[in-house]
Amino acid sequence: MTLSNAISQATPISRQDREKLHKHKSAVLWFTGFSGSGKSTLAHAVENYLYQNGISTFVLDGDNVRKGLCHDLGFSDADRVENIRRISEVAKLIMEAGVMTLTTFISPFKSDRMAARNLISEGNFVEIYCCCALDVCEQRDVKGLYKKARAGEIPFFTGIDSIYEPPENPELVINTDKKTLEESVTLVIEYLRQKQFL
Ligand code: ADX
Repeated sequence: MTLSNAISQATPISRQDREKLHKHKSAVLWFTGFSGSGKSTLAHAVENYLYQNGISTFVLDGDNVRKGLCHDLGFSDADRVENIRRISEVAKLIMEAGVMTLTTFISPFKSDRMAARNLISEGNFVEIYCCCALDVCEQRDVKGLYKKARAGEIPFFTGIDSIYEPPENPELVINTDKKTLEESVTLVIEYLRQKQFL
């Protein structure tokens, strides 16, 4: 059901007020890439760095979202679209609370990432492509899912029988199969400093 006559409530405390209180800017760092490309590892390492430097952070990742907010969704194209739509809305709310928000979803479709960018708005959205060859992700197979997908036990697995559209103009590309975790974190932090998010 759509609530067409819901009225937005004016908020006396603005995002800028919250940023002032937190003493830093907020934004959404949107990590995208194959399963096993290192999105979560990198995002949590970046979060740790930010946290140690007094920055309020929150990571929205597959485990906390797909078990809760999106527990009703699977991996069909339509469900992935809805997954990313909900995550975009939640990421925007957390950003508006003045928190540096990190998301770690495959987000395989360009149009969904574009919709997230438009919703969150240019200048607040940092797309970080965790670029890692599929065969490397498959060799790592941290969760054992590629093996199952190859055996036909998991349908529509990204990179196998469901597409991943690589970003064309992301703010950052991190070659997670060539860089160490420490180097990757440094690249993200340097970017945030350079663009005066930090
Ligand atoms: S997304 O495509 O909708 O962005 P999301 O990031 O939430 O995907 O979930 C991906 C994680 O779910 C993978 O890292 C993997 O652990 C698990 N998974 C289970 N089934 C699939 C599938 N068919 N394709 C990709 N990942 C899957």
